[in-house]
Order: sequence, then structure tokens, then C-alpha cells
Amino acid sequence: MAIAWSLRRCVASLLAMGTVLPSAQAVYYKISTPDEIRESARTLAYDMMLFYQGNKTGEIPGILPGPPTEHKGDYYWWEGGAMMGTYIDYWYLTGDPSYNHVITEGLLHQTGPNEDYMPPNHTASLGNDDQGFWGMSAMLAAENKFPNPPEDKPQWLALAQAVFNTQAHPDRHDETCGGGLRWQVPPMNMGYNYKNTIANGCFFNLGARLARYTQNETYAKHAAKTFEWLWNVNYIDHESWSVYDGGHVEHNCTDVNKAQFSYNVALLLQGSAFMYNYTNGSDLWRGRVENLLNSTLRDFFPEGIAFEVPCEGRQGACTADMLSFKGYVHRWLAATTKIAPFTREKILPVLRTSAQAAVNQCTGGATGRRCGFYWSGGVFVDPAVDKTSGAGEAMSALAAVSSLLIDEVAPPATNTTGGISKGDPDAGSRSKDTFEVLAPVTTGDRAGAAILMILMLGGAIGAWGWMSLGD
Ligand SMILES: *[C@@H]1O[C@H](CO)[C@@H](O)[C@H](O)[C@H]1NC(C)=O
Ligand SMILES: *[C@@H]1O[C@H](CO)[C@@H](O)[C@H](O)[C@H]1NC(C)=O
Ligand SMILES: *[C@@H]1O[C@H](CO)[C@@H](O)[C@H](O)[C@H]1NC(C)=O
Ligand SMILES: *[C@@H]1O[C@H](CO)[C@@H](O)[C@H](O)[C@H]1NC(C)=O
Ligand SMILES: *[C@@H]1O[C@H](CO)[C@@H](O)[C@H](O)[C@H]1NC(C)=O
Ligand SMILES: *[C@@H]1O[C@H](CO)[C@@H](O)[C@H](O)[C@H]1NC(C)=O
Ligand SMILES: *[C@@H]1O[C@H](CO)[C@@H](O)[C@H](O)[C@H]1NC(C)=O
Ligand SMILES: *[C@@H]1O[C@H](CO)[C@@H](O)[C@H](O)[C@H]1NC(C)=O
Repeated sequence: MAIAWSLRRCVASLLAMGTVLPSAQAVYYKISTPDEIRESARTLAYDMMLFYQGNKTGEIPGILPGPPTEHKGDYYWWEGGAMMGTYIDYWYLTGDPSYNHVITEGLLHQTGPNEDYMPPNHTASLGNDDQGFWGMSAMLAAENKFPNPPEDKPQWLALAQAVFNTQAHPDRHDETCGGGLRWQVPPMNMGYNYKNTIANGCFFNLGARLARYTQNETYAKHAAKTFEWLWNVNYIDHESWSVYDGGHVEHNCTDVNKAQFSYNVALLLQGSAFMYNYTNGSDLWRGRVENLLNSTLRDFFPEGIAFEVPCEGRQGACTADMLSFKGYVHRWLAATTKIAPFTREKILPVLRTSAQAAVNQCTGGATGRRCGFYWSGGVFVDPAVDKTSGAGEAMSALAAVSSLLIDEVAPPATNTTGGISKGDPDAGSRSKDTFEVLAPVTTGDRAGAAILMILMLGGAIGAWGWMSLGD
């Protein structure tokens, strides 16, 4: 809390100091009625697509320009997967199929030879979270009844099961810290000694959703066990339900890095909502949903507007990864209202104030409608001042606006309520984590964005010790 407010004051003073160019333009996007929302989302989706090169001749389908480690652009592999999910929701919420072919092509191109989102181009730097983001987008395609791929291609549900199965495999789990997944998959990678919330959160979330979709208890058992592990290692605060970033195996995960990122808590919230629904409304999962929802709104929506606590308000402190988090949080909150309807009245007003703040600052660029990152500031921040008008920011505004249509759509489907995706419980079993043959890498395609940034943020966030990676 204290951190959030001091950062907000910091933004306020930045604005007061005139480092932010005042916007001359009127607000471009209107979102008062469903028609206005659809129209605004259509333009936001078009503008976001301009960042994507993957459907052009000679470019690679599924990814945004990158990775930065190869000086090919700002975006890591996982963010392409997150983008695919954003457009699956865009179609589901608005009914506009314009990008479905682009998204289908991207989702299928990145599956890798074993159809489990471990493509050779990215396995050397693979995080469980990176793979998890692609798996969650495949899961979403199944839940939203996104048009099926051709029959000779891997199917959405099977792809999600493949990701889950590779991660549930005993090879990816060990007894350090009493269980849990490591951040990185290849043992020689920096970050292999870090067990973090995002890696385990993706696995938990996917397990909860597979349980509800297939009614297969095995997924639910893994999900529940992972949640309990996150609780036992205190990555979820037992008093405040704030959700922290992770810890190191050499400290038995007791060196909890207390950086809070919005996507960690929102991912656990959405997964808990699926478990709540799967368990027919159990008190246990209802309590977890309530507490995580309170924590999400308290820590990340001061005045009802999404605010990325650990980096926002400090010029240049948010990485390209972090600049995309607000969109996922909006989408996961919206989905939560469908499967845990008791949260609806609390969530919808916040999604609205936050989306309104998002579009209020989409007044930049030559078009007068480009979006930035500083939603609570109310004005577009010129990229010359702070590089915050890229794909993540565009994706977040798109997600915030399209999620306002959540009341208009059917809940996520299941195998028994109209789902049309064909599964394969054994998917992913052809895979083997044979990384010893690969050259060591030192930087990952990191969805677990915290790692490098924490070094830079240390002083501002607090007094806990950050143990340098690779020690
Ligand atoms: C890529 O997709 C966009 C959006 O659908 C479309 O406007 C563009 O023409 C496509 N480009 C190619 C080469 O297919
Ligand atoms: C892997 O990377 C190479 C080099 O950038 C590229 O040509 C190829 O299309 C990529 N393969 C996949 C499946 O994305
Ligand atoms: C390591 O942490 C786990 C999980 O918190 C705990 O169950 C276990 O007892 C700890 N082991 C040691 C040696 O402290
Ligand atoms: C939820 O209720 C249905 C219908 O009564 C039942 O078949 C199912 O086993 C229940 N699920 C759980 C996890 O208790
Ligand atoms: C589970 O989700 C369905 C929508 O799929 C909803 O109608 C139902 O009320 C939810 N169950 C509970 C216990 O909230
Ligand atoms: C969540 O916050 C509301 C106030 O907004 C409060 O009434 C409720 O008791 C809280 N729930 C839990 C589980 O702490
Ligand atoms: C639902 O799952 C069962 C068991 O996996 C399968 O036999 C059935 O075909 C599935 N139904 C649909 C509509 O996919
Ligand atoms: C349930 O899921 C587990 C784990 O993937 C799998 O081994 C099992 O075959 C599944 N059961 C059914 C009935 O599909």
C-alpha cells in the first residue's frame, strides 16, 4: 500500500513538473455503450496489429518483434503467446473474426515438433511461465470455442494438456522448498535456482481450467497442491494476501523476494475462481477468491485504476514485459466474474473506471489515438519522455476496453457445456527435457519479468535482500 501511494505521488509530481507533454487532443475512444465499446475495440485491435509482423512474407508467425537478446526487437517469445490470447478474447467479446486466421496461424506455428509449446528456437531459454502463457492461450481457445484448427493439426485442448503434462512431469519437480516448479526449465540457465510465483501460477491456472473443462480430478489435484505450496512457502502473504515474486532453492525458498507484480495475484485469483467453480462453490475456494480479489483491488487498483506498483511512476523502470501486465489483469478479472459470479458486482465497476482511464490517455501519435502506459495520469506520455507506447500498452488498452463486454458473452465452455475442442490426455508425453545437449544461455525469454528489474528497483521497493541470480 505505502509503495503504491508513494509511487502515485511520484507520478503526480512528474506531471506537475511538466515532464509529461500535455495532451491537446480530445479523448478519441468512446466506451459508454456496447456499440461504442465494440467500435473502440475494433480500432484498438487494428492499431495493436501494426506491431505484429508475423503474417508478413519472411516473418515468423506467432511472435512480436524480438527477442531483445538478439537485437531483433523489444519482445520476448512469451508475449506473442499472450497476444494470441488477447485476440482470442477480442473475438469472443466483440464477435469480430478479422484476426482469427492470423491468431490460428501464430498459435500453430509456435507449438514445436512435439506439439507442446517447446519450439527449438526457444527451448534453450525456456521458462515454465513462457510455455505456460502459450498453454493458457490454447486453453482459452478451447474455453471460448475459438474455431478449431484443421483436423491434421494439434487441437487447442490437446495443446493445453501437453503444456500441463510436460510441467506436471516429475522431471520438472523436485523436493527443494518442499515442491513447486522452478522458473527456468534448462538446468544451466540463470534462474533455474529460482522457484517463482509466475511459473507455478501458470501451472496452477492451467490445471484449474483443465479440471473444470474436462472434469478430470487429476488436474484439480495438481492445481490444489500447487496452490498449497505457494501458500506454504509464503509467496502468498498469510495476513494481507499480497502475492510475492519468488525465492531461491539454496535458501529453501525462505528468501522471499517481496516484489509484487499485478499478473501474479490476478493469475492466482482467476485460477482460484476456476477451482471454486469446479468444486461447485466450495467454501475453501470461495475464501481464496475473496481474499485474492480484495488483495488485487487494494494493491493494484488505487482509485479504481490499474497501476503497476513495482515500476510505474519511475521513468524507464517498467520493462517491455511489465508494460503488458495491465491487459492480462483486466481479462482475468473479467473471466472471474463468469465462473465466480459472486465477484461480479465488485469487479465490473473497477474494470470500467480503469478502462475509462486507459482510453483517456490514448491520444498520442500522428493518429491522435495511440495509447501509453500511465492510465492514472490522464494524459499520453510522449515516447520521447518515456518509451511507453509499444505493443504491451496497446494490448492492455485493447484488453481493458473489450473486457467491458463480458456481460454479453457466454461463460467459458466445458466438455459438457458445448465445448468443441478435442483433447488428448496423453499429449506432451513425447517430450523430454533433454537440455544438457544445449549451449548455456544467460538470459531467458522471461515472462518472469521480475528478475533483472529487481536489481534496479531494489532501493525503492523495500529492505528485503535480493540475492543475485547465478550465485
Ligand atoms: C496481416 O494481417 C493484417 C490484419 O488482418 C492484414 O491487414 C494484413 O493484410 C495481413 N498481411 C498479410 C501479408 O497477410
Ligand atoms: C526459428 O528461427 C529461425 C531464425 O530466426 C526462423 O527462420 C524460423 O522460422 C523459426 N522457426 C519457427 C518454427 O518459428
Ligand atoms: C523447506 O521448505 C519446505 C516448504 O516450506 C518445508 O516443508 C521444509 O521443511 C523445509 N526444509 C528445511 C530443511 O528447512
Ligand atoms: C459438482 O456437482 C456435480 C453435480 O452434482 C457432481 O457430478 C460433481 O462431482 C461435483 N464436483 C465436485 C468437484 O464435487
Ligand atoms: C460456475 O460457472 C457457471 C458458468 O459456467 C455459473 O453459471 C455457475 O453459477 C458457477 N458456479 C458457482 C458455484 O458459482
Ligand atoms: C473483502 O473486502 C470487503 C470490503 O471491500 C470486506 O467486506 C470483506 O470482508 C473482505 N473479504 C475478506 C475475505 O477479507
Ligand atoms: C468429453 O470428454 C470425454 C472423456 O474425455 C470424451 O469421451 C468426449 O468425447 C468429450 N466430449 C466432447 C463433446 O468433446
Ligand atoms: C486424467 O488426466 C490424467 C493426467 O493427464 C490422465 O493420465 C488420465 O488419463 C485422465 N483421465 C481421463 C479419464 O481422461
